[in-house]
This record gives sequence, structure tokens and C-alpha cells, in this order.
Amino acid sequence: MAEFRAILLEKHGETVAPSIQTLDSNRLPDGDVTIRVTYSTLNYKDGLVLKGQGGLVRNYPHIPGIDLIGIVEDPGTSTFNEGDKVISTGWRVGEVWWGGYATMAKLKSEWLVKAPEGLSETQCMAIGTAGFTAMQCVLALESNGVHPNSGEVVVTGAGGGVGSVAVSILAGLGYEVTAVTGRPHLEKYFSDLGAKNLLSREEIYDLAKRPLQTERFAGVIDTVGGDILAGVLPAIKYKGTAAICGLAGGAGLKTTVIPFILRGITMAGIDSVMAPTKEREQIWSRLSTDLPMNKLDAATSVVGLQDAIDLADEILAGQVKGRTVIDVNA
Ligand SMILES: NC(=O)c1ccc[n+]([C@@H]2O[C@H](COP(=O)([O-])OP(=O)(O)OC[C@H]3O[C@@H](n4cnc5c(N)ncnc54)[C@H](OP(=O)(O)O)[C@@H]3O)[C@@H](O)[C@H]2O)c1
Repeated sequence: MAEFRAILLEKHGETVAPSIQTLDSNRLPDGDVTIRVTYSTLNYKDGLVLKGQGGLVRNYPHIPGIDLIGIVEDPGTSTFNEGDKVISTGWRVGEVWWGGYATMAKLKSEWLVKAPEGLSETQCMAIGTAGFTAMQCVLALESNGVHPNSGEVVVTGAGGGVGSVAVSILAGLGYEVTAVTGRPHLEKYFSDLGAKNLLSREEIYDLAKRPLQTERFAGVIDTVGGDILAGVLPAIKYKGTAAICGLAGGAGLKTTVIPFILRGITMAGIDSVMAPTKEREQIWSRLSTDLPMNKLDAATSVVGLQDAIDLADEILAGQVKGRTVIDVNA
């Protein structure tokens, strides 16, 4: 029997406590594929899980980590081969199933995709759920007719994981990108990612004061929800689209139907967790061609398992910049 190292969350009364432990592999859940994990990531949802918030984890002890990349050690009866490099994002791994903050994982084969050729393991995890979701949002804009010549596209929560990757992809595709941020001092970071303009959160909150504002945004990628989303909707151009994926600023939405019924705007809901395999393959393929890797690398930090625990409060407070990759062996 093998041993592996992991962050284990244990519940004592109402408190969830993380610690790094060495565990026997026979404690892993009953997936058909055994994976030697090399890297995971830190996403907003990982912050919630690490802090025991959001009701995402029902059973403890639990291993967090919603994303992982690793090498297949035992493919079981699946079509994978020993030595294949595979990725898992979503499917509630790291929430209801033991996840990627561990050197070993056992997952269901239908949750796995082969890592795309040409991307390093750290690049795949720098993408992770956040980058995957950013590309889903871009595809939603495209399929609703928003193209680089449609005009300005705004990304909210631009300094975060989804936001930073979305800015990079859109700018690489030739869109005029406006970053909405509570961290205007990161101006150089945003212009390096390719953003042409910066707007403060306050400027967006102001737009919510009237049901219709001057038509400005051809498209929106919203990672924040709440008052920020309520602010961008009145300024969306005729037939424009907002791809909605996040709630970093709140799950509520106080707005009017006016931009929908007078300007025919669309809100496209984005879910990365249960995305079907065909869609996943298309998204990873587009990521490997349309995400400028130099920009991704510049927006990525690599840290160890203990750092993941330490960064949980920061990501929930919106203070983590770009993408954080977790080296599970460090
Ligand atoms: N639908 C899906 O499948 C899916 C997938 C991935 C993520 N998500 C969701 O998308 C959101 C972003 O995820 P992430 O991993 O990118 O998180 P993240 O790295 O923490 O980024 C969120 C960003 O939102 C901004 N923000 C935070 N609190 C805010 C507030 N109170 N008001 C306004 N802006 C605020 C901050 O950017 P600035 O400092 O630049 O303003 C922050 O960096 C989360 O809600 C996450 O759960 C959903």
C-alpha cells in the first residue's frame, strides 16, 4: 500500500481545520483511475472549501483542490494508459470528492481529459478552472455574435484568476478590452495583459443609477455579480451579451428588465463544473491556441501546499492577483 501527502480538512464542532498529513492510499475514494498528482491550483471556490464556507463540503475529513494535473499510475479498466498526462477540473472534485491538494488522487475516468500537447503542467494548472471558465465566457460571447470588431468588451474582477485569463484571451484575439478592478494601482499588470482601458468599481456602480445608459459595451465577462453586474447591464450595446460566471461580489442582482426588452441584450450563464466532455475538449483546444502563454506565465505564481492554506483568506478577500499554481510536492 502506498502513502501520499495531502491537505486534510477536519471538522471540530463548527470549525474546519486544515493540516498537511501523510495518508494511506486505501483511504482514497473508489475512482477507477489512480493519478500521481503533480500540480493543482487555487481558485475562489478552493478558498471557500479551505475555510469551510459556502456549504460545498458535506463530509469530513476532506481533501480540497478542485483542479489537478498528474500522471496516470493505474488506469484500471479505463481507456487511459499508464503514464498518460491527465487533467481534472470541475465535476465537484475537491467538493464532494477528494481533490487535488494531494500527491495522489483516484478519480472517475469520465472526468479526465488528456493534457493538451504543447502546454507545460504548470501552464495547464495556471489555466485550471479559472482559465477554463474564462474561455467558456469568450466562446459564449462569440456564439452570441460578439466579435473583435463589435467594440469594447468589459471584464469585471479583472485582477482575479478568471478575469486575468479573460483579459489575456480577449486581447490576444484582438478585442478592445476594458478591465474593471478595485485595484487600479495594478495598471501596468492590466496593460501587460492587454487591457486598453481601466474602470474603477465605483464608475460601474454609478451606471446602475439609471435603467439605460449610453450604449458602450458590446460584451461583458462578469466574474463578480451583485452591484457590479447591475452596473454593466444598462451600458450594454444593442444585442450585446454578458457572460455571467461569478459571484465574488455577491449572488444577488438588483436590476430592471429594460436593457433586455429595449436593447435585446443577452445574459449567458456559464457553468464549468458539469460541462460535458465534448465541450471540455473544444475549450482546452481553444485555450492551447488562443491564450497567449507569455501573458499567462506573467500572471502565474507557483507555491507549495502550505501556501494554499495561507492564501485562502486572501483569495476570498479578492487580494490574490492572477493565477496561483500549487506544487503538491513542495
Ligand atoms: N461558473 C463557474 O463555473 C465558475 C468557474 C470559476 C469561477 N467561478 C466564480 O467566478 C468568480 C471569480 O473566480 P476567481 O477564481 O477568478 O476568483 P478571484 O481570483 O478571487 O477573483 C475575483 C476578483 O473579483 C474582484 N472582487 C472580489 N471581491 C469583490 C467585490 N466585493 N466587489 C467587486 N469586485 C470584487 C477582485 O478583482 P479586482 O481586485 O480586480 O476588482 C477579485 O480578484 C468566483 O465567484 C468564482 O466562484 C465560477
